Amino acid sequence: MKKRRFKIHTKLAVTYLLVIAIILLLINSQVIRALEGNYLADQEAKTLANANIIALAGQDYLLSKNEQTNSFIKQYGEQMQSRIIVLDKKGQVAADSFAEEWLEERILTFEEVKTALKGEETTGVHELKNGERVLYVVVPILRDEKTAGAVMLVASLEEIYANLDSIRRLMSLYSVVGGLAALLVSLLLAAHFASPINRLAAAVRRVSEGHLDQRVSINSKDEIGLLAEDFNEMAAKLEEADRTLRHFLADASHELKTPLSSIKVLSQSLIDSQEQDPAVYRDFLQDIDSEVDRMAALVNDMFQLAKLQDPDYSVPFHVHQVGELLKHIKGLTAGEAFQKGVDIKIEVGADGEILWQLNQDLFTCILLNLVHNAIRYTPRNGLVTVTADVEGDSLVVRVKDTGIGISAEDIPHIFDRFYRVDDDRNRQTGGTGLGLAITRQAVLRHKGTISVESTPGEGSIFEVRYPRIQSNLGISK
Ligand SMILES: Nc1ncnc2c1ncn2[C@@H]1O[C@H](COP(=O)(O)OP(=O)(O)OP(=O)(O)O)[C@@H](O)[C@H]1O
Ligand SMILES: [Mg+2]
Repeated sequence: MKKRRFKIHTKLAVTYLLVIAIILLLINSQVIRALEGNYLADQEAKTLANANIIALAGQDYLLSKNEQTNSFIKQYGEQMQSRIIVLDKKGQVAADSFAEEWLEERILTFEEVKTALKGEETTGVHELKNGERVLYVVVPILRDEKTAGAVMLVASLEEIYANLDSIRRLMSLYSVVGGLAALLVSLLLAAHFASPINRLAAAVRRVSEGHLDQRVSINSKDEIGLLAEDFNEMAAKLEEADRTLRHFLADASHELKTPLSSIKVLSQSLIDSQEQDPAVYRDFLQDIDSEVDRMAALVNDMFQLAKLQDPDYSVPFHVHQVGELLKHIKGLTAGEAFQKGVDIKIEVGADGEILWQLNQDLFTCILLNLVHNAIRYTPRNGLVTVTADVEGDSLVVRVKDTGIGISAEDIPHIFDRFYRVDDDRNRQTGGTGLGLAITRQAVLRHKGTISVESTPGEGSIFEVRYPRIQSNLGISK
């Protein structure tokens, strides 16, 4: 089932673009606004200054309504690129540089005019009927410190707005070009960032389809690089687990096949023979029986191993007398030791008393395996010594023998399932090669560690360390 969804690539690109577009829009509008404010303030200051010049210069004759006034304001109006209107103290037009008839003697009621007539200069922006924007600047004409009228300058703002428009157009053009460049860059960047993720995703998919040999090579030192490293590690572990499982199955079936074919040969020859003597039958059946025992032991070991690896299998911990447990194990192995002519010695702590929290079944399983091995791989007249001591925060149990020892090359493998140092000879002695694998699992269940030191020809020491169980571990997996 394939879900349709936006690829991370697209998401990244769209995000970049949005961010860039928002920034461009903000910059454009802010710049235009600032420019507009600047221009207007400039124009205002200039026009105000002009209006004041006229109001001061013409103080005495502006309001006298003669030709001189008219030509004066006309001349200045042209110079200042503004319309100049002179108002008397009622707001009535006394002179107009445009000399338009309809305005003659009219009373102007703009807010700006009223304010100016009260003695205060003001400015304001107006939009005319034809859409033109203009600036009104009105300053009072003072005579004997009293407002005698006002000078009003009307300046067109169209040039400013035309300027602003062309700047706006230019900026839009730049923004579009910049935006396109940003689009290109963001697509490239997004592809660059998305590519390792996509490769990783593809590898994950392949692994989930069962191709455990997938690895990705991403060398970046960022989180994605770390993720890739973790992925590779995980895939390697999966592959290893898979290989172990396959080997285990192959080994297990191989181990079961050997006794099965013996049984088959034995029973088949009984069926085919003309033998009358029941003693011969008994012999054959005894051989079959011991092969069945071997198979049963093997299946039992496999089951135990599976159980120990099952996280749902819980093992309760209780306080036990370590010395008692070891004595019990000595009892269980005494017969075998006697047969082999090997002595077993037990030494517990300084005073023979150690109380430790452990699981009796696991402890017995671990030590039985170690002592069995010690007896099995020690020649006649040898000695097996089992010691228990508390060292620091751990109970340390050592099983020492004077046996054949294990070579350095074999030591790393002896805890593997079905591993036997001398395969042929050991198969005859009855070992399945699962004992130490089970032991190690049991030790792990105890959150302990197991290690071995050995000198070929002199003997081996297996050491198991049980950490003190914290109370919250009391009953746990
Ligand atoms: N104390 C020891 N001295 C010498 N070699 C040992 C000793 N303990 C284990 N080994 C070697 O390690 C191998 C693995 O041991 P392990 O207990 O797993 O298997 P096993 O004893 O052969 O069979 P099983 O215990 O399943 O009956 C043995 O076959 C043996 O070669
Ligand atoms: Mg063993």
